[in-house]
Amino acid sequence: MIIARNLTKYYDNFLAVDHINFHVKKGEIFGFLGPNGAGKTTTVRMLSCLTKISEGEAYINGYSVRDEKVMVKKSIGVVQDVANLFGDLTVRQNLNFMAELYHVDKKRVNEVIKQFELPADKKFSKLSFGFKKRATLAAAVLHEPPVLFLDEPTVGLDVKSSRAMQKLIIELNKEGHTIFLTTHNMAIAEKLSHRLVIINRGKIVAEGTPQELKSMFTKVLKIEVTVNKVRREILEELRDFHPRAQGNTIIFSARSFQDFLDAFYPVARKYSVVVLSMNSSGANIEDVFLEVTK
Ligand SMILES: Nc1ncnc2c1ncn2[C@@H]1O[C@H](COP(=O)(O)OP(=O)(O)OP(=O)(O)O)[C@@H](O)[C@H]1O
Ligand SMILES: [Mg+2]
Repeated sequence: MIIARNLTKYYDNFLAVDHINFHVKKGEIFGFLGPNGAGKTTTVRMLSCLTKISEGEAYINGYSVRDEKVMVKKSIGVVQDVANLFGDLTVRQNLNFMAELYHVDKKRVNEVIKQFELPADKKFSKLSFGFKKRATLAAAVLHEPPVLFLDEPTVGLDVKSSRAMQKLIIELNKEGHTIFLTTHNMAIAEKLSHRLVIINRGKIVAEGTPQELKSMFTKVLKIEVTVNKVRREILEELRDFHPRAQGNTIIFSARSFQDFLDAFYPVARKYSVVVLSMNSSGANIEDVFLEVTK
């Protein structure tokens, strides 16, 4: 649904997006993760015809972003990081206006008002920040575009509104929208994206599923086992896993959880030690992010 080939943006002499390549498959939520100033918004603006591509090519839904702008615009909905509806109009008036622009049946306006649970008769300027975001998203999907660009859709939202927004994004994806999602929030990228890239200073520095990215950077697992009684023999027999006892908890380090379990259980059984709980933690997407953007 989206192809970028050597996509590049210069602002005068400043290289903001540096010959990036990626593709987004139909039905995916594609995460575009990067720190402030990485080039996320610039990429969205290039792909959605809001700023000129300096070098390279991009295709949306099979249409060239350079040469088939009208078809590209029909194929996409864009939610930018700033809300862009008319403050003096009510939500319904804004949506009716958009419906006319896109030649969409007015019935659809009622549909999205219901789906997004919007206060239809409130002026846009009077809405809370969270509802402004929801209304902007509603306007972007009015014409049921196959591709949605969401630039930082959860930034500035409180926990409840952020959860509601994430739920909406998943819902829209299930309805068939392919979603290009920029964020610097790693937890959200990890939770929502089927695949993601990490962009830093205009360059893609990592690419894969959240799981692939994590396993690429998983170093050593930390495994915490709480037992009924810490026996010295256990610490000795499992010394390859660098055990450290803290009260009734033993902290081990291992490269593979399975290898650890295979070694641990026979020893625990031998000394009749009862396991009360076991936790393991490896790299999270935040570790990956910091590693590739440092
Ligand atoms: N209109 C512009 N003119 C000149 N430089 C710009 C312009 N817009 C963005 N830049 C620069 O290009 C780089 C990328 O900016 P961009 O807004 O794409 O980053 P971003 O990843 O969206 O960051 P953020 O997370 O802060 O939204 C930054 O260094 C920024 O200062
Ligand atoms: Mg941005």
